[in-house]
Amino acid sequence: MKRILVTGGLGFIGSHTVVELQNEGFEVIIIDDLSNSSIDVLEGITSITGKKPIFEKLDLKDQSAIQQFFKNYTDIQGIIHFAASKAVGESVQKPLLYYHNNISSLVYLLEEMLKNRVNNFIFSSSCTVYGQADVMPITENAPFKTAESPYGNTKQIGEEIIADTSKTTNLEAIALRYFNPIGAHSTAKIGELPIGIPQNLIPFVTQTAAGIREQLSVFGGDYPTADGTAIRDYIHVVDLAKAHVAALNRLLDKKNKQSFEVFNIGTGKGSSVLEVINAFEKVSGQQLNYKIVDRREGDIIEAYADTSLANKELGWKANSTLEEALASAWKWQLALK
Ligand code: UD1
Repeated sequence: MKRILVTGGLGFIGSHTVVELQNEGFEVIIIDDLSNSSIDVLEGITSITGKKPIFEKLDLKDQSAIQQFFKNYTDIQGIIHFAASKAVGESVQKPLLYYHNNISSLVYLLEEMLKNRVNNFIFSSSCTVYGQADVMPITENAPFKTAESPYGNTKQIGEEIIADTSKTTNLEAIALRYFNPIGAHSTAKIGELPIGIPQNLIPFVTQTAAGIREQLSVFGGDYPTADGTAIRDYIHVVDLAKAHVAALNRLLDKKNKQSFEVFNIGTGKGSSVLEVINAFEKVSGQQLNYKIVDRREGDIIEAYADTSLANKELGWKANSTLEEALASAWKWQLALK
């Protein structure tokens, strides 16, 4: 059984990836500091797969703890690194927290994994590295734009650190640039757990429909799009999780063409906020109370992926429709109540 380390494995994308890894026969070790996740997720994973992953509560900013970890666990074949802070607004308020959480931990982890001859590394990147791209759909060749937030900057810098390191070490790495992950596992045993008021669209939608929030604010009705609302590429988190397994297998099978590769992970289809609302109303049978308000600062007009590189090289494709992803998010919301 191949042993894989998943950092941030109790988070939203991490937990769904752990399930897919276990389903594919990998042995999973999770590191998580529980700063933005719950230990209950471990039970959720176990009840889906029937296999309890190994769990270590560990803060990746503690280099000596990482050193000890690699003494305790040998034979790790690959690392999928999710552990990071991800709230855009908070990163503007607390930039050093974000650089420390997302960059220091990455540097320590790379240092220690390479010392221990663990070479295969998958990095959680984001379409935020492109900013407002000039051409849609966005290919991996689109240039980085100046980051709108320290969070976005940590994804750009993270990729650069990995690219530089791969030039002079044995590191074999893939960065996956996620578009907008949504939805939950079909069992509704794991899903997105926003703490406090959700910043992202889908949790706000489901909480409004569930009566937890009074009204959804649609940020901007005057964008240069068909219905005036902003466009994103919403991808089912289970499809996204499967992309990680495909990327990992590419490294394990030594099929990668360069020591550092990047892939867009999206559906290739853009949906406006109003299209999302309509689709949600259809699948949930709920009427959503919403109001169009001013644009949110820092938001872009549109972003959707050209996924042909991932389709071809990873042999991976997103399968779920927007409706299916929204239905799973709603089922999860109802299970939470
Ligand atoms: C943002 C980040 C992305 C990050 C992701 C997850 C940027 C450019 N994007 O994506 O990097 O990975 O969060 O944290 O920084 N909306 C509303 N009302 C709401 C909430 C959202 O209308 O209450 C709209 C937004 O204006 C946007 C769309 O819904 O058009 C999606 O927003 P959101 O879910 O927050 O994701 P992004 O901002 O695209």
